[in-house]
This record gives sequence, structure tokens and C-alpha cells, in this order.
Amino acid sequence: MNKDQSKEAPMSGHFDMPKDFAKRIHQALRAWHSRQVEDTLADLLLAQQIRIKQETVSPRLISNQILLAGLERLKQINARGAELLQRRFLDQEKAQKLSVRWNISPDMIFQQQRPAIEQLAEVIWQQELELRQHRLRQIETRLEARAYSQLFGVAEKIAEVRVQLESPSSPWLIVLEGLGGIGKTALADALVHKFALTGPFKDIAWISAKQQDFLPAIGLQATNQPALDVDTLANSLLEQFNVEIPLSLSPQAKLAILTKFLKSSPYLIVIDNLETVVDYQTLLPTLRKLANPSRFLLTSRHSLQAYADVFCYNLKELSQSDTLALLRHEAQMRGLPALANASQTQLNSIYQVVGGNPLALKLVVGQISVFPLPQVLDNLKQAHGKKMDELYTYIYWQAWNALNVTSKQVLLAMPLAQDGDLAQLAAMSQLATDKLYDALDHLVMLSLVEVGGDDLTDHRYHIHRLTETFLLTEVAKWQAA
Ligand SMILES: Nc1ncnc2c1ncn2[C@@H]1O[C@H](COP(=O)(O)OP(=O)(O)OP(=O)(O)O)[C@@H](O)[C@H]1O
Ligand SMILES: [Mg+2]
Repeated sequence: MNKDQSKEAPMSGHFDMPKDFAKRIHQALRAWHSRQVEDTLADLLLAQQIRIKQETVSPRLISNQILLAGLERLKQINARGAELLQRRFLDQEKAQKLSVRWNISPDMIFQQQRPAIEQLAEVIWQQELELRQHRLRQIETRLEARAYSQLFGVAEKIAEVRVQLESPSSPWLIVLEGLGGIGKTALADALVHKFALTGPFKDIAWISAKQQDFLPAIGLQATNQPALDVDTLANSLLEQFNVEIPLSLSPQAKLAILTKFLKSSPYLIVIDNLETVVDYQTLLPTLRKLANPSRFLLTSRHSLQAYADVFCYNLKELSQSDTLALLRHEAQMRGLPALANASQTQLNSIYQVVGGNPLALKLVVGQISVFPLPQVLDNLKQAHGKKMDELYTYIYWQAWNALNVTSKQVLLAMPLAQDGDLAQLAAMSQLATDKLYDALDHLVMLSLVEVGGDDLTDHRYHIHRLTETFLLTEVAKWQAA
């Protein structure tokens, strides 16, 4: 795999028109009346949308519907070009005849036809883009805020899981399993973004099974969200898929409606953090009943190897070269010259201790933003040989000890305000906005807090589950002592 393939481009929502698109539009126009099956435009989301609405429609008719809608739009900006294409391809009018009708030479007809096709291609591509953006926005509202700007070493992983997700038969339940922080949620998120635009699914839902814990450090229940049981699952899916149901329906009736819905077409349902469901074994039989043709993509720190019908994809850590690429990328993003200019040997020594666990690596990068690189490397040497969970605890303590009182106060309030904005966090931590902002800035530098949201005015802050666990166990224990 070359370097570029191993990187996953950030989800920008920008897609350039394929180079041969005008040629494909020309082919589709020529095939307007063809009896043979033509599927030059089958890979467009525009085609998928038509297929979903009219299940039995042929590829040629789909392509014709796309062309018609494009011609309609072209008419508004270039009426003559649209008419030319309509007469030439839909009405099969010969260039000769048209040249007489328009009183120009047949050569002129061909001269005008070419730019008209190019313009039609641009118009159709624009329609495709609008649909893609709309679809992405819709699905993104169901996802959690992204904590990454670029993923490393995922191209192969995406391809391997994708084969299973696109298979026309079983497995219907697929689980991404692996250690905390290894990148299960990030991979599921990347897959959802891929499938939002192409692929066999009519729609995609995302559910986090994570239950909020009691927070002894603060003495509050984080949220009264119900744990993920069958009824909560059904409610959430019916809501995300906009299935209208009468209020006060019994749980059994709701489940029956959901079953019928998921059996009617293939949907993709992601359940993140399955292992946090206390009795997930009891959820599995329900998922089996709901699946086929719909699919479930689960993430879990625990292995589900014991279940023969669940396809288990074990997430391995990043390779050495992907780890180094991640470190260099983080250095660039955070403006850390010490790390950006670090020698290969220094970067390798980080890999020797931390391995290719993305979250642990990001935390170490966080340390480099506040301590000199040699000191961080020195500290890491002491962690050599520790198991992953001990390593996390070690790194978290290093980070915690580097915090001032205000930052500690803000971090402790974070579990109560997951995905909150500045105003919500201010209310929760009872701090003035400028003080809070400085504290958050520091926590983000340390990778203890992650920022999501599209623009500066819409920043949302959250902490990773492992950070939360550290606060709830280690810090709480220590504070209670
Ligand atoms: N391949 C990758 N390249 C760069 N960053 C990554 C990659 N995979 C994950 N990350 C980042 O590392 C952090 C941990 O990843 P993620 O939350 O997906 O782990 P997880 O396996 O879901 O952990 P948990 O079991 O605690 O839920 C996140 O900040 C994520 O954005
Ligand atoms: Mg996760």
C-alpha cells in the first residue's frame, strides 16, 4: 500500500467532478432509446435515490430520469443547448434536419452540441453534489462529533470491513473489536461516511450504547438516559428513520413495526460501545431478528468470538510508519515544532513504548505541547513494558499533574457536559467564560478534551471514554482518600 492510500482524507464534503463525466453523460444520452441495459450512471447517488423510490425500475430508465432532471435545470441557464440535446438525443432528430430547422450549418450543430453536453454534465454533477451534501448532513446529525482530522492506516481496514458490510448474504452482525482507544469508533464513523454516499444502504442510524455512570467525584448522576434495552433501541431507530408511530404504543407493537421496516430494505445500524450494555447477550437475539437484509455494525472492547454468526473484526494497532505519520500530522496540526522536527530515533522511541494505539499517541503528543520533548521521552522510558491499561493510567497521571486548579475543575465537569458548548460548560463549571476558555484551550492541547463542531461559533467539547474512566476511578479514588 502506498502512503497516500493509507491515509483517509478528512470528510470535507467536496467532491470533484470525475474527469470522464461529460463522456459518460454523452454515452447515457446516446443510450436514451437503447434496448440494452446501460448503467453508465448507476454509481451516482442520484441513481440510488431513484432505485429506492421505484424498486423495479431498469438502469436505462434511471439514467434517463437523471438526464431529464439535468436537462430541466440546463433549460434555465442555456435554453438553446437544452433544446439541442433534447431534439438530438430524445427526439432522435438528425443534425441535418435540425440544421435546416435552425437555419445553420450541420457543422454548427455539432459545434454547439459539445459544450451543451459539457454543461449538462456540470449541471448533473451539481445535482449529485447537492444530494450528497444533504445526505451527509442528515446522517451526520446522528453521529457523534468527530475527534480526528485525518485517519492513518485505515484504508485497508475500511476495505476489509466493507466487503462484509456489502456482502449480499450473511454476516448480518459485524463487530469491530479491540482495546480502548484503538480506533473502533473512528473506523465505524469513517465507514458510515463512505456508505452515506454510495453502497447498498437506504439509510444509516447511529446509536451509542454507552450508559452514563455515577460520578462520585461530583456526586451527581450524569444523565438519566435509559440504558440500551430493546425498547430504547426501538425508540431510537424509529425516531432516526423518521417512522411515525402512534404515541403510547406497546413495546411489542413498536418492535413489530421496526421489524417490518428493517425487513423492507437494507438499512445500516451502528451500535457503538456494545460492551457497556450490561446484558448485551440478551440484545443479540433481538438484533438477529431485526437483521437481514439490514445490517448491524457493532463496536466492542469485549470479543464476541463466542457467537458463531457474528463476524468479528479485530482492530490491530497502527503500524510503525502509520504511527510516525500520525505523530507528524499531530505536530503540524498543533504547531509543535519540537515534535515536527523530532528525529526518526526520537519518534521511534515513542512507538517503542506506546505502540500504535491512536489515543495513547495523542495523549503523548499532548504532553509534548507542555513539556520539553526530552522530558516526555524520559518519562516514557519509565513506562516501558507496562500493559496498555497501566500505560494509560501512567500517561493520564502525568497529564493530570500538569494541570492547574481551574483546568482540573473544568475536566472534572466534562462528564456532565459531554458535547456541550462554551455556554453549557460555563454553567456547569461555574467559571467566567475567559477563564473557562483558557482552561479548555490547555486541556485540548493536552488531548484531554476533544473539540468538534463545524466552526468556531459551534465548538462542542467532549472527553474520550477512557479519560472519563480515569476521572471516575483514579481521580475520584484519590480525591476520596
Ligand atoms: N487511524 C487513526 N488515525 C488517527 N487518529 C485515530 C485513528 N483511530 C482513532 N483515532 C483517534 O484516536 C482516538 C481514539 O479512537 P476511538 O475513540 O475511535 O477509539 P475506540 O476504540 O472507539 O475506544 P473506546 O473503546 O474507548 O470507545 C480518537 O481521538 C480518534 O479520533
Ligand atoms: Mg469508541
